[in-house]
Amino acid sequence: MCGIIGYIGKQEAFPVLISGLKRMEYRGYDSFGFCIHDNENGTTTFKKVGKISAADQVLGDMKVSGNMGHAHTRWATHGGVTEANAHPHLDCKGSISVVHNGIVENYKELKKELEAEGHTFISQTDTEVLAHLIEKFFDGNLEQAVKKAVGRVRGTYGIVVLSKDDPNKIVAARSGSPLLIGIGEDEYLVASDPAAVVANTKKVVYLNEGEIATLTPDNYSIYTEREPQEIDWNVEDVEMGKYPHFMLKEIMEQPESLRNSLRGRLVPDEGKAKLGGLMPIEERLRDIERIYVIACGTARYAALTAEYMLEEYAGITAKVDAASEFRYRKSTIDRNCAMLAISQSGETADTLAAIREAKSKGVLTIGVTNAVESSQARETDAGVYNHAGPEIGVASTKAFTSQLAVLALLSLYLGRQRQLSLVMGQRIANELIRIPDLVQKALECEPQVRELAAKYKDCGNMLFMGRKYNYPTAMEGALKMKELSYIHAEGLASGELKHGPLALVEDGFPVVAICPSDSVYEKNVSNIMELKARRARILAVATEGNEDIAGIADEVIYIPKTLEMLTPIVAVVPLQLLAYHVALARGCDIDKPRNLAKSVTVE
Ligand code: F6R
Repeated sequence: MCGIIGYIGKQEAFPVLISGLKRMEYRGYDSFGFCIHDNENGTTTFKKVGKISAADQVLGDMKVSGNMGHAHTRWATHGGVTEANAHPHLDCKGSISVVHNGIVENYKELKKELEAEGHTFISQTDTEVLAHLIEKFFDGNLEQAVKKAVGRVRGTYGIVVLSKDDPNKIVAARSGSPLLIGIGEDEYLVASDPAAVVANTKKVVYLNEGEIATLTPDNYSIYTEREPQEIDWNVEDVEMGKYPHFMLKEIMEQPESLRNSLRGRLVPDEGKAKLGGLMPIEERLRDIERIYVIACGTARYAALTAEYMLEEYAGITAKVDAASEFRYRKSTIDRNCAMLAISQSGETADTLAAIREAKSKGVLTIGVTNAVESSQARETDAGVYNHAGPEIGVASTKAFTSQLAVLALLSLYLGRQRQLSLVMGQRIANELIRIPDLVQKALECEPQVRELAAKYKDCGNMLFMGRKYNYPTAMEGALKMKELSYIHAEGLASGELKHGPLALVEDGFPVVAICPSDSVYEKNVSNIMELKARRARILAVATEGNEDIAGIADEVIYIPKTLEMLTPIVAVVPLQLLAYHVALARGCDIDKPRNLAKSVTVE
């Protein structure tokens, strides 16, 4: 959740660390801090509550020199949002400085032990334990002290550590929280996220679980040697460019991100999908009888859409579970099943825990993730990358539509291994090829949605409803609305309305009805009529050309026609824009909604 970065090299560390932190701020933005070491002028440590993006004036007035340092942007877990709890955390002598992403689960017992030995703590965080633990083991060699200290830790960590008493060196260690080393020209960086280093270098080495690395001005070393890799995107991908918010940029990028997700993966003549990442398990997949799909949040709504796709087109029974629930139930998952994990970041703690649980039972695990070399990509048996490009806005948009496209590809792939006909396979493949253009068309509703947002901005509550493939779309629309605008919103299966939620409806109650012209359109219309009878205000998302709906709903946003299984990809676009514009009209912080952060690496 938190963002960490370290720098050692010939440049001034301060601007590198600050711009790296800004590019990683989506990982957490309660407070930030840094520690910079200069051989002549000593060490400068600074911490501040609030967002780094709002601290330009303070930072602009600072003169900090030094060629090595580390920095942190925080999403609070242990201890409130205070300066004392912001990172870096220091040992008793103020010599060892630690920034940390993760959770030290046994921090209470370690703290008790260290306090009994005379260490004094000044924060409420779990991280401060690490600084004192490293101090306890320090005898002049920082790597050795870090190695001994992490040996005592239960939980997750990505840490970057400096010590005045073993200068010209940064030590980094990883377990359960991602870390990578950036290899630049006469400089080395370490960070929790490629976005933090991409302005300096695209050559990176991802640390493996349990590894410790040492960076000096001239070199870096890890226990296991391996070749660096290239980051396959540019610094512009993690900057807003002409857009006022990352979210809007990412909504607008969807035609392109979908093209990238689909590129080279369709064989329309054969009605097939070609998924290189699944080749090693191709034969095993033929024998799979059931698929458990696990994910969190928006990715879970993609999973729920996949449930319909897999059952209808691959003929495989699919069951979806929130990753946070899966490992706590007595599951009937067995070796005839596969687990499909979906995660944009590939670092979501609950999703990783569910994968590990399934693997321990000998179950085949498949991942869909947007993050190359993420923990999920490493831990699953096989998988498919989204290739949607970095998603910085905390609210997921382009990753969601990319997940839906990849899940359609997967359903086609598995379906053609089973009974899906050539003709149906060709139809799906050809329609997937059109999807980026259809999303481009759907984006044309933006001016209309902006106007509608002005009418909906003062709502206290909203309902979103849909059936079959668009029931998860309704839930996704409601999630976007609540996380961005803080309006209470619920997403319902249209048929469930009369089983309780209808009691909420009174004159003018806003309901967004996703009702494309599909196999359940008539049923959706019946539910809209029930709502109209109670004077609800209906905003319909309907297929272009459907004039009847204009006579029923109060407002209509039209989306282009596509195959029923792919409608969520186009139908979600106006819902993303609606949440964006309502939040904007309410003055909310769109890219950094309160209490949230991207990539939830804690359970
Ligand atoms: C909502 C949102 C979250 C994530 C969820 C899972 O807009 O972004 O609900 O979808 O935290 O994250 P990943 O996909 O990284 O596992």
